[in-house]
Amino acid sequence: MSFKDFISKINYLDSSIKTCTLCDLHKTRNLSVPGSGTGFSGLMMVGEGPGFNEDKEGLPFVGRAGKLLDKLLSEISITRKDIFITNIVKCRPPNNRDPLPNELEFCSPYLEKQIKIFNPRVIVTLGRFSLSYFLPNKTISSVRGQQIELDGRIIYPVYHPAAGLRNSKFSEILRKDLHLIPSLLVSSLENKKC
Ligand code: URA
Repeated sequence: MSFKDFISKINYLDSSIKTCTLCDLHKTRNLSVPGSGTGFSGLMMVGEGPGFNEDKEGLPFVGRAGKLLDKLLSEISITRKDIFITNIVKCRPPNNRDPLPNELEFCSPYLEKQIKIFNPRVIVTLGRFSLSYFLPNKTISSVRGQQIELDGRIIYPVYHPAAGLRNSKFSEILRKDLHLIPSLLVSSLENKKC
């Protein structure tokens, strides 16, 4: 895909998400949140859904959980613009409730298209909702920090940063898991070359 095609596909998809009315979440959202970053590092991160701050700004992970994520990413010299960060659902569920099955069903084609366009080598799932989208039968505690191959990509499940904010034990595990990302990216690049 040429760079021009990449940009026009992303812009088209972003505007479809911004004007989406497929499920009831559009009635209560302020702004939908397509995602942010270039994804040029080959890394995509997928969270659950926008919260209060994300709904106000139209950007993912800009609240307290996002600040923790930024801090942990800076420890491994990865900046937001190098990766693509998005969520399973693109509009905020009222009062931050869990997304409903029909909301997941209507929204997931957007994520599928984003994966096709960005073509990430590594997808980091943040929390259990994101994990169960990719690997429905796995629990986060049993697979976090493991590299799982799926459709030619590496799925790398980690705890959600919000869990890290609630409990320092989780934030230490999250830190340890995120610190393995640079070597994961390098080895996925080497495998691609072979
Ligand atoms: N939590 C998420 O899962 N996604 C966000 O964008 C913010 C908080």
